[in-house]
Amino acid sequence: MTIQSALSGRSKRWGHPGAFMQAVTNMLDPATDAEKAARFASLSRDDRIFHVVLAQQFDTQSIEELCQLSEMIRKIASHRQGNLFLQTLLSDRRAMLYFIQPSTRTFMSFTAASQILGMGYNSVRDPSTSSETKGETEDDTIRVLSQYFDVIIMRHPVEGFAEHVADILNGIPRTIPVVNGGSGKDQHPTQALLDIYTLFKCFTEHNTDTPLTEYSGNPFAGKTVGFVGDLKRGRTVRSLTYLLCRYPGVRLMFMSPPELQIGPDILEYVQRNGIEYEICDELESHIGELDAIYVTRLQDEHDVNGESKSIDYYKFALTHEMAGRFKADLAILHPLPRRHELDPRLDALPQAKYWGQVRNGMWMRSALMAYIFRVDGTIRDHYRNYYAF
Ligand code: NCD
Repeated sequence: MTIQSALSGRSKRWGHPGAFMQAVTNMLDPATDAEKAARFASLSRDDRIFHVVLAQQFDTQSIEELCQLSEMIRKIASHRQGNLFLQTLLSDRRAMLYFIQPSTRTFMSFTAASQILGMGYNSVRDPSTSSETKGETEDDTIRVLSQYFDVIIMRHPVEGFAEHVADILNGIPRTIPVVNGGSGKDQHPTQALLDIYTLFKCFTEHNTDTPLTEYSGNPFAGKTVGFVGDLKRGRTVRSLTYLLCRYPGVRLMFMSPPELQIGPDILEYVQRNGIEYEICDELESHIGELDAIYVTRLQDEHDVNGESKSIDYYKFALTHEMAGRFKADLAILHPLPRRHELDPRLDALPQAKYWGQVRNGMWMRSALMAYIFRVDGTIRDHYRNYYAF
């Protein structure tokens, strides 16, 4: 039985895991538990995440802590004195932003996060200006950079490269952490963290009096989160799905042209975690069911022969005409950049959360840096002493 035939044999409406899917799981994921444990251990130090490479590294506790911390930093930074405090925290650290794939918001988000915590940074954005043109391997470039900086934040076109960098750094005496700011078509864990922080904010806003700085729980139970667009080649959708699978009771809807449907590895993960899901080849009739919609652009830079040109992507655009069917509390997210798939006339609606989502990214990346460099406890103490009243 091939993976494709296994997957096509199951119900497409709210699938559930079972013995059949276990067979698929075994085919897709042959790693033993010991191998998986070793993989995650190589990315951790003292039971804490050290290299940030895969969304699967984050469990509900670390997600919750990072959301709380993001919210504390946001509040502390709303006062001049608070900003001056934050700027002392990492003033003895330096970050290398090795971004050799196009990026504006992720790059700027990390530079802003560094500035919030007083951390210096430098960047490589064009490898043609580095010694790689003299024949240096990229691995050696990483080893050299690691001697000047205290963290390498990277965006790279090759899937799995960030994990490879973690291995390189683990293999030299001065091991510094690597943070994956987007790798090929596979992972974008820091985007997933800011996305889930945004969803946490939206789903707790009207339902609890507990501030997010203290919130502990599962705001996703009973919620339907829809992903729409190019789900096959969009790394943000893949990483966010991994995080959402931590929350029992969430329902996922994957809406895309059949050629661009989410990968079988992700579906297998969703099933293995007992999460309900639906695969759909249109958007329109599902709008009213959704509590959140995550809109994505066509990732045609990954085309091999211009194959996207024959796809009717307009069917997967969220338009102003659909707004009458939105739930009042619908949260519209988009990782940006957008094209025509997200109508600008929606920007003024209360359901449009994508600009706030960008800002949430700056706080979440600050929280992540604080966590990596272990100043998160200092921030928590400061918040409780001066802001929690
Ligand atoms: C995304 C990316 O680079 O994967 N953008 C981002 O980081 N905010 C999505 C995209 O490029 O479509």
